[in-house]
Amino acid sequence: VHRETLEVLACPACHGNLAAPPVAELQDGALTCTACARSYEVRDGVAILLAGDSDDIWRDAAARLDAALARDPTTAQRLLDSPLAELNGADLTFRGMVLEARGELERAAAAFAAADAALYDPGLRGCRDRLLDACVGRIGSADWVLDVASGRGALVERIARAGRPVIATDISAVAMIRLRARLSGLGLADRVDCVACDAGALPFMDATVPVATSALGLENIAHPARALGELRRVCAGPLLAVGHTYPPDDHANGTALRERGYDHVADRSALDAALEDAGWRPTYPESCSAPAVPTPLGEVIAGGAVDGFPVAPTTLSWHVLEAR
Ligand SMILES: C[S@@+](CC[C@H](N)C(=O)[O-])C[C@H]1O[C@@H](n2cnc3c(N)ncnc32)[C@H](O)[C@@H]1O
Repeated sequence: VHRETLEVLACPACHGNLAAPPVAELQDGALTCTACARSYEVRDGVAILLAGDSDDIWRDAAARLDAALARDPTTAQRLLDSPLAELNGADLTFRGMVLEARGELERAAAAFAAADAALYDPGLRGCRDRLLDACVGRIGSADWVLDVASGRGALVERIARAGRPVIATDISAVAMIRLRARLSGLGLADRVDCVACDAGALPFMDATVPVATSALGLENIAHPARALGELRRVCAGPLLAVGHTYPPDDHANGTALRERGYDHVADRSALDAALEDAGWRPTYPESCSAPAVPTPLGEVIAGGAVDGFPVAPTTLSWHVLEAR
């Protein structure tokens, strides 16, 4: 964690200052709140600013994959050594995850790229990638950017390549440790810090974040009222988010989304209502639409799922959201 980042981080529980050793960059150690004395670990260069144990879908997925590979050596061989063209999109994703965890970053990147091409319609990929670039273009001259729900960091990587310092955050410590390793491998580590935190308990003081971004973050945060409220609290500038909503008459996906707490992306008016309830004024300066179908389950990692949604074929309305 770079010195500049340590200076803007705060305790996620009480927003007190965090005392850090006087170093240019902290690789491993602890950050202690000067107000409430809670202590947070810094591991592999990632500040883990989580209150207690939280769900880590990346850690759980890695454990399931390790168990499947350990159970049966032929599964490991098929997953890791088959030609890319012989695996479906889900298994390609799992191959990328295993290789990334093992530090085989180039082979992992090839597997993830093949997975993206196998899983998603070219129209969807074109629309999504154009909006990711448009989002970066709207950041302007902000000193630094807070990205939430950063996951594997498609948006963070683009922001760093555009030369902006960015703090990547995700509730998964495993995802942040992997993202840091991946961005270091790409030579981008000097512009990025990775912090594990819940978007619903952000480790920043009020009105200190120049710009916040997210790509497919709101789509993956169930019951997001706390997260939207926290973003409102910490942001001095706009929230820029790439994401999508479903058609208002898409009952199959709408029902599944509501059942799992994602009502806010069921359609554009639901997203507007969630944002406005948290004090944001949303606009949608860029948009496009693209077909989407449920992603297949793994065949080598039998039954392994990649995406929870959509549950039925649909047409997604993609947007860059700019909220103030
Ligand atoms: C699809 S990924 C986001 C993709 C990513 N933004 C990118 O640019 O590649 C969704 C992420 O949301 C994270 N997430 C879910 N709930 C969260 C929360 N409450 N706070 C922070 N991150 C959360 C998950 O761990 C997951 O990594």
